[in-house]
Amino acid sequence: MKRVLGIVSSPRKLGNSEILAKAAMEATGADNLELIRLTDLNLKPCQACYRCLPKDKPCLIEDDLDFLLDKIRLADAVVLAAPCYILGPNASIKILQDRLLSLGSKIEQYAGKTCIAITTYGRPGVEGYAEAALNLTAYFMHLQLVDCASFLGANPASVLEDPANLQRVQKMGRALFDPGYQRTPKPNECPACWSDILRYDGKNLICPLCGTKGEITVEGQAVKLKFFPQVNHRFSEEGKREHNEVFLPNKKEEFLAKRKYYKELQQPYRQIGNWVTPEQK
Ligand SMILES: Cc1cc2nc3c(=O)[nH]c(=O)nc-3n(C[C@H](O)[C@H](O)[C@H](O)COP(=O)(O)O)c2cc1C
Repeated sequence: MKRVLGIVSSPRKLGNSEILAKAAMEATGADNLELIRLTDLNLKPCQACYRCLPKDKPCLIEDDLDFLLDKIRLADAVVLAAPCYILGPNASIKILQDRLLSLGSKIEQYAGKTCIAITTYGRPGVEGYAEAALNLTAYFMHLQLVDCASFLGANPASVLEDPANLQRVQKMGRALFDPGYQRTPKPNECPACWSDILRYDGKNLICPLCGTKGEITVEGQAVKLKFFPQVNHRFSEEGKREHNEVFLPNKKEEFLAKRKYYKELQQPYRQIGNWVTPEQK
């Protein structure tokens, strides 16, 4: 029995993300389809305590994160669907992504499950960085992203007005259990993390998400982007292991060793300004 979990981050019931997530899930042919609407969960922001860094330590915030992670562990495949709000995925996705720090050293509990990421947006050309940023959710959950796409539709259900959208998302759904599936890359995307956001440092072209480098060449009238092969980019097994099991624990050690000194650095800033909060009703 195959289990597919749909994680929908739109608060809009039967909105575009929900419809496309459901269409993709149905197309998998799986018999167990479960859906979670992120905005129904109590997910609190990360407190930056870093107590979740060791392999055996969970996040200590008491909320619905464990419920969600248990559901992901039970699933064979995950469908992520989020609307674009202000050029990025909506805020529930960012809250979840920050909390995924706690999964950093627990890769093996999630690895091997496939995932697709569906972004919806309302205005052509205003999709911003939503798709690339949503994909990060899959990478930080250690899921194997097999395809991603953005779908245009401002009003609820309007994505269905173009029949190609339904066909595309159904194809994505089938890809979840098709080991031979080959995704068609977008032009000029980073070959490692599929982001089409580019940074240029005056010499190299750099993917700001996974750090893969490349070069910009001009051949006649044509400007070409060439990414260099990078084995251990930030979202590779080795890149994630290095960050979570070497860099972050070392930073924690450094913090513990220099704690008193950091307190001294903080001291002059302790009394500046007044923190204000709303009156309790
Ligand atoms: C607060 C807010 C911000 C939005 N910002 C963008 C945006 O930056 N770019 C865009 O193309 N659409 C934007 N939209 C439109 C939604 O992405 C679009 O309606 C989408 O289909 C919503 O998906 P849903 O039906 O699953 O909620 C925004 C919508 C809201 C409510």
